Amino acid sequence: MTFSGNIASKLPATETTIFTIMSRLAAEHQAINLSQGFPDFSCQPALSALVAHFMSLGYNQYAPMPGVAYLREQVSAMRKEIHGVEYNPETEITITAGATQGIYIALSAFLHENDEVIIIEPAYDSYLPGILINKAKPVYYQMLAPDYTIDWKQVMKLITQRTRMIIINTPHNPTGTLLTSGDMQQLERMLKDTDILVLSDEVYEHITYDGQVHESASRYTDLRSRSIVVSSFGKTLHTTGWKVGYVLAPENLSNEFRKVFQYAQFSVSTPMQWAIAQFLEDPAQYKGLSAFYEAKRDLFNSYLTRSRFKPIPSRGTYFVCADYSGISRMSDRKFVERLTKDHKVAAIPVSAFYKNKHDQKVIRFCFAKSEETLHKAGEILCAI
Ligand SMILES: Cc1ncc(COP(=O)(O)O)c(C=O)c1O
Repeated sequence: MTFSGNIASKLPATETTIFTIMSRLAAEHQAINLSQGFPDFSCQPALSALVAHFMSLGYNQYAPMPGVAYLREQVSAMRKEIHGVEYNPETEITITAGATQGIYIALSAFLHENDEVIIIEPAYDSYLPGILINKAKPVYYQMLAPDYTIDWKQVMKLITQRTRMIIINTPHNPTGTLLTSGDMQQLERMLKDTDILVLSDEVYEHITYDGQVHESASRYTDLRSRSIVVSSFGKTLHTTGWKVGYVLAPENLSNEFRKVFQYAQFSVSTPMQWAIAQFLEDPAQYKGLSAFYEAKRDLFNSYLTRSRFKPIPSRGTYFVCADYSGISRMSDRKFVERLTKDHKVAAIPVSAFYKNKHDQKVIRFCFAKSEETLHKAGEILCAI
């Protein structure tokens, strides 16, 4: 018998991500790509030189399963420096192939069939497939434009006997909002006396504006004890293509995480880990990131505020959302298509971050771009 080709998809409703679609469209129409979240500038030359250095020294074989010890120590030091919290590099820190893998493995390690996971929308698109493939169920809470705040009393109503996890993301993609210490305290109170885990996506941990603090789940004792914190060096070091990230969790959770990690990945690129570890000897590399991106945010905003778009304040991440209802009544999906084809600027429709494609006529721009790119895009947007 020959192979029929019929396979039952485990993710039948999953489509190509909007990031791939918009980046492809931007390339096709030679548009300025402010859609996908990656810098159009290089990482520090000193960092890539360190990779070459460690490669030439022969650091080219498997790293230890949880990561190069030097890098785990540097992550521990960085977290202590910023948040004043201790994570044991030996037992509580694991280096992953980007935050995406950290998220997927956390979902695989902790979810059982029919468990419920609370997702706060608009939500980054890698949460849902990891939930579904593990036969768990998403339960949605929607934050709405223009404030994108969370009413925790409403979130509490979503908790059932089956709730296993809640996923939070701060600083938040796509809205650029931050959870406040009030949010974190309410979350902590809400989860007390439950066995609900927190998956805290903190990939933009070093990008907050106007002097605001990143309220990591690590900072709150009870939250820390139930949190799997995921982060990414891609965002911090302008190296999204390297796919190196890390996961923090108390020892009992890290043990379970590593049981899956050691067979899904085993270990992450050795010379990259050594290079990043050495680079982090200088805390200015991450402490200067907010100021670096704040200048870009302000530059791009100076155009948006003069345009017919209505920007929604970005308090963190390298994204800013803008309401275009003063320009068009088109759906956001159609609007970004026209913006790309007719005006040569690509953006992301925020409806793509909602399961029910909730359309509030808001689109997301990525401003992790050179000044020249931002000036060019800004002038185009002002002329619309
Ligand atoms: C909120 C959020 N989480 C996770 C990721 C994935 O990070 P990584 O590239 O390290 O896999 C991204 C990347 O854009 C993101 O925006």
